[in-house]
Amino acid sequence: MYTSLKGESEHGSSSFEAQEQLLSKGFVQYNSSTRNHNRILLHIFVAFMSTISAFALGVFLGSQKSAWFQRECITQVQKYSPILKKVDTSLHTVRFNGSLLKENVFRQSAGPEVDAAWGSIGVNYRSLAVPASEATESGLLLDQVKISSRYGGGFPANVEGLHHLHCLDLLRQALYFNYDYYHARGNGAFKNKDNIVRFHVTHCLDIIRQQLMCMPDTGLLGQVWWDLHAPKAFVDFNTEHKCKNFEAIRQWAEERQIPKQVPNDFLQPPQEGDRIYEEIP
Ligand SMILES: *[C@@H]1O[C@H](CO)[C@@H](O)[C@H](O)[C@H]1NC(C)=O
Repeated sequence: MYTSLKGESEHGSSSFEAQEQLLSKGFVQYNSSTRNHNRILLHIFVAFMSTISAFALGVFLGSQKSAWFQRECITQVQKYSPILKKVDTSLHTVRFNGSLLKENVFRQSAGPEVDAAWGSIGVNYRSLAVPASEATESGLLLDQVKISSRYGGGFPANVEGLHHLHCLDLLRQALYFNYDYYHARGNGAFKNKDNIVRFHVTHCLDIIRQQLMCMPDTGLLGQVWWDLHAPKAFVDFNTEHKCKNFEAIRQWAEERQIPKQVPNDFLQPPQEGDRIYEEIP
C-alpha cells in the first residue's frame, strides 16, 4: 500500500495525488493521516449526495403522484390480473346516492328497463381469455381449463367484481316482489330447476357476504335532521367513498369477451396433468 501510494505521488499524475502531497507536507505520518482525511471527505461527500438524492427522489415521487406510485399502493389491496396493466384502478372520491324513497333505475320493478340498466353495468358479460403468460401471476393454475391453441390459447376467466354484480342482480330477480316475473320468463339463472335456482341465489348471497367482509368499508354514516315541522334524526347514507373507476374496468371486460358463439372444440379437453374434480367444488 505504502509503496504504491509513494509511487503514485512521485509520478504526480493526477490532481488528487498532487493535493495529497500538498496536504501532507511535513507530516511524518504522511500517508495514513492523508488517507484518513480523504476517506472522511469521501464519506461526507457520499452522505451529502445520498441525502440530496433521497430528497430529490422524495420530491419526484411526491410531486408526480405518478401512476407507478398509485399502482404500488393499490397492489396492497387488490390481487393481480392483467387488467392492472391496462386500467388505472386508483381510487377517487365518490358520493353515494343512499336515498331511501327516491328510486333510481336499478331499483325499479321487474321489467325490461331495470334489466337493461343492470345489463349496462356488465352483469351478463361472457368470459375473457387470459394469456398463458399472465395466468400464474393472476392466480390461475396451470391445471385449469384452457382455450384450445387453435383459438388463441389462454385461460377463460371472468372479472370477480362483475361476478359480484351478476350475483347482486340475481338477488334482485329473486326478491319476493320480482320472483314471479323472472321465474315465469325462465331466462338466465331461471333456466334451471327451482332447487338449482335456490342454490344459485344462496351462492350469490354468500359470495357477496364474503366480499363485503373481505373489504369492510370503514367509513362512517352520520345523521341528518329531516322534517321542518317536527325534526327527526335520520341516517345520512349519502356519504363519500374511495372508489375505483368502475366504468374503465367494465369497458376492459366488455371489449375482451369471448365471442357469443364458439366452436365445440373451443376448450382444450382435459390433458394429462389437468385437474378433474369428482364433484362441483
Ligand atoms: C339520488 O337518486 C335519486 C333517484 O335518481 C334522485 O332523485 C336524487 O336526487 C339523488 N340524490 C342525491 C343526493 O343525489
